Amino acid sequence: MKAEVKIRPFWYSDAWIFPKLVTIITTLDKQGRVNAAPYSFVMQWDVMHFKPQMMLGFRQDTHTFQNICETKEFVINCPRWDHLDDMMTTARFWPAGINELEHTAFTPVPSRKVRPPSIEECPQIMECTADQIIRLERSNAIVIANIEAIVMDEGLEQMGRAERIKAMNLPVGLGDERRLDYFYCDTSNVVMHRLKDEQNAYQGVNAKTNMPWDDAAEAALMEVPPAFRTLVIDNTERAAREKGLDAVSIKFFADLAREYGMDQEFIGRFSKS
Ligand SMILES: Cc1cc2nc3c(=O)[nH]c(=O)nc-3n(C[C@H](O)[C@H](O)[C@H](O)COP(=O)(O)O)c2cc1C
Repeated sequence: MKAEVKIRPFWYSDAWIFPKLVTIITTLDKQGRVNAAPYSFVMQWDVMHFKPQMMLGFRQDTHTFQNICETKEFVINCPRWDHLDDMMTTARFWPAGINELEHTAFTPVPSRKVRPPSIEECPQIMECTADQIIRLERSNAIVIANIEAIVMDEGLEQMGRAERIKAMNLPVGLGDERRLDYFYCDTSNVVMHRLKDEQNAYQGVNAKTNMPWDDAAEAALMEVPPAFRTLVIDNTERAAREKGLDAVSIKFFADLAREYGMDQEFIGRFSKS
């Protein structure tokens, strides 16, 4: 049996269980004063590397949102589990102009590309500039932001995901009750689950081309993960037809892939070898 639940203000937080990343966003106000507060509505937006972007959601009356509107710059800092109390200290309703970091064990350090400070104790940091600000009527606002830099503690990038998850031990937010009691868990119970391909998907059983591809072009196509292969075939063959070609050569495929940002680095990210 299931029952429908009443949708009340802040349903996303107290009615719906929504595990989320915990971040502390640092900004500067017009006078250059530091502000810091936790934010979890923080998601990837444009995932390609030519214009990488994030999407964030804010109550419009927060100092953070107002500072972003005025100065366009901010830093997303991810604290470790052992700084949960410090993170919650920054969540209090401090008056405008107060630097919340001064009431915590966090150390502000200069950022690389933007003026608001980064937090030294956070292993994973993203420096951003606002690109679009969308104010929803009588509700929240969305900020679409350019990623100017991703900065990590040295050594983290080289670790495999399993090792890195353990080394960072980021808290996961589980929502709140009455805007008073906030719930978190750590990442001590993490399992890995390998996605299973059809046995020879990487040999291209699901890649149906509609015009001849030369051997090298076909081999390059096989490096594209099966999930994207149909899309790549459609785009490549459409582009070939537009150029009056009736076959795909490796030169044509490689030039087009570069134009779309699918260079060797892109393809290498998915390659199994
Ligand atoms: C873990 C956590 C996540 C939060 N996420 C958001 C969020 O995504 N958007 C938002 O508007 N407020 C969020 N809040 C509430 C703000 O942090 C809180 O209103 C804070 O006082 C705002 O501070 P500021 O006015 O200095 O920006 C979150 C609070 C916590 C504890």
